[in-house]
Amino acid sequence: MDLSTTIAGVRFPSCLMNAAGARCVTREELEALGRSHAGAIVTKSMTVEPRQGNPEPRYHGFPGGSINSMGLPNLGYRAYAQLIPELRKFKKPVMASIAGFSDEDFVTIAKAINESRPDLVEVNLSCPNIPGEPQIGYDANSSERLLKRVRKVVSVPMGVKLPPYFDPAHQEKMVRVLERVGVDFLSLINSVGNGLVVDPDKECVVIKPKGGFGGLGGALIKPVALANVRAFWKLFGGRLPIIGTGGVVTGADAFEHLLCGASAVQIGTTLVEEGLGTFERLEKELAAVLEKKGYASPSACRGALREL
Ligand code: DHB
Repeated sequence: MDLSTTIAGVRFPSCLMNAAGARCVTREELEALGRSHAGAIVTKSMTVEPRQGNPEPRYHGFPGGSINSMGLPNLGYRAYAQLIPELRKFKKPVMASIAGFSDEDFVTIAKAINESRPDLVEVNLSCPNIPGEPQIGYDANSSERLLKRVRKVVSVPMGVKLPPYFDPAHQEKMVRVLERVGVDFLSLINSVGNGLVVDPDKECVVIKPKGGFGGLGGALIKPVALANVRAFWKLFGGRLPIIGTGGVVTGADAFEHLLCGASAVQIGTTLVEEGLGTFERLEKELAAVLEKKGYASPSACRGALREL
């Protein structure tokens, strides 16, 4: 089955791709994504300067999901600006994820990266792991001020990666911001920030940074991810493409995201745990689900979730 999809006029050969952060920091990792069945190459969120990130251990997988506090380890935007033109040879979209510690940072990175012509830019408003830095996406006014400046310097399709919201009023407020800014797609959701995983045998936290607090991902966050995909899909009347991220372990999970309104799906924890073979497995599983249910393509079931 053809699992391709189109987002903001960009064609993806498969609707399944990596989530920013998952196996996408180095040249080697990005090239490996290029050679894999991933439908796109999404970069690690990049900052102005290269970063080592937080002290280790900073990622921990467990049966229900994962917790991480990586602290934005990345090569710095100049390295990615050089790499992006080379990644075009893999004939799949390249999506540059950008982050920063100030509005100035975002604008500097956005300008330079836009010139390297990625197929899309994903503006990350939702990194939960920098000590002392709140997630921008939880402050509507800061988000609007920042996005208006970034929008001015990005001419390729620009999307926003948002944190999970737990109240419809927050989603409605963000929708009004996004309408005023003019964004081309949404990536929903980033990790559920500042969770805590405890090892009761060792009576200890499982990651070192921030006293053990970190972003949750994987199976346990799927209902939160689906709720945000569905809420934003409805608030935009199905007119803004959404990339669903969160809790995709099987093809059926990806199908659930599509039903809620996603046009494509990103894989984080499962890709980190299982490796690049994830994409082929999920492709087969998703195709089998769609076939069994009589859907000819991923877009045929987009948003089709029934309510009681
Ligand atoms: C990191 C984690 C995130 O969830 C994110 O959006 C960006 C960066 C990190 O800790 O590296």
